[in-house]
Amino acid sequence: MTELLELVGVSKQFGTLTVLENLNVAIKSGSALGVVGPNGAGKTTMLNILAGDLAPSSGSVLFEGADVTSVPSHQRSRKGIGRTSQIPRPFEGLTVYENILVGATFGRGKLRKSKTINQACGFALETTGMTSKANVVAGQLTLLERKRLELARALAIQPSVLLLDEIAGGLTEMEVHDLVVTIKLIRTTGITLIWIEHIVHALLEVVDQLLAIDYGRMLMCGDPKSVMASPEVQSIYLGNE
Ligand SMILES: Nc1ncnc2c1ncn2[C@@H]1O[C@H](COP(=O)(O)OP(=O)(O)OP(=O)(O)O)[C@@H](O)[C@H]1O
Ligand SMILES: [Mg+2]
Repeated sequence: MTELLELVGVSKQFGTLTVLENLNVAIKSGSALGVVGPNGAGKTTMLNILAGDLAPSSGSVLFEGADVTSVPSHQRSRKGIGRTSQIPRPFEGLTVYENILVGATFGRGKLRKSKTINQACGFALETTGMTSKANVVAGQLTLLERKRLELARALAIQPSVLLLDEIAGGLTEMEVHDLVVTIKLIRTTGITLIWIEHIVHALLEVVDQLLAIDYGRMLMCGDPKSVMASPEVQSIYLGNE
C-alpha cells in the first residue's frame, strides 16, 4: 500500500497560540485512521489543514505523493479529498437529494456529465441508507438522519479519502451503532478514512490505526488497542472524564 495522504512537519499557530506542533501523519490507501485527543488538542485544526480549509504555518500536506499545501479546499475535493464538518450545515430548505446534488455536481473530476452525477447521488443515498428520505427537506431530518446526510454529501464527490469530524457526536448508543454499520459499509467500498471521534468504542470497531494527540503533538500512533492501553493516553482520558 502507498501513502495516500500525509502531513509532513505540520505546525499551526493562531497568533501566539501553538495549536499543532511538528505533526507527521501518513495514511495508506485503503486503511482507516482514528484520531483521539482531549478537547482543544488540535484535531479539527489538523482535519482543516488536510482538507485545505486552513493553511499550516509551516510544513506540508501531500496527496498521492504530490504537494497540495497551497491547493484550496474546493480543488482538493475535486482531487478526491472529502470531508464532513463537526457541526453539520446542510441547506435546510433543500431536499436531501438536492443537498447531495451540490456535492455530486462539484465532485471529483472535471466537468461532470449528468449520468455521472446521478450515479454519484444514487451511490451516496444507498450507502448512507437515505434513499427513502431523498425528497425530505433537510430541515425536517432527525439528528441521525442529518449525520447520514452529512456523510452522503461527502460521499457524493466520490472521494478516495473521507475525513470525518465527530460524526457520531450527540447520538444515542443505538444510533452510534447504526452509524458504525454505515461507516463499515463505506469502508468496504475501498474509501480511505480519517475519523476524529470522542466515542472510542465506535472508532475501535472501524479503524486499523489510531493517532492520539494532545496539545497539538503526537502522543502515539499505531495499533488502536495498544494506543488506548498506553499509560500516556490513559492518563489523558482518565484526567478528562
Ligand atoms: N480560528 C482560530 N483562531 C484562534 N484559535 C483557534 C482557531 N481555531 C481553533 N483555535 C484554537 O485551537 C485549539 C485547537 O482547536 P481544535 O478545534 O482544533 O480542537 P479539537 O481537538 O478539534 O477540539 P474538540 O474535541 O473540542 O473538537 C483550541 O484552543 C481552539 O480554541
Ligand atoms: Mg474538533
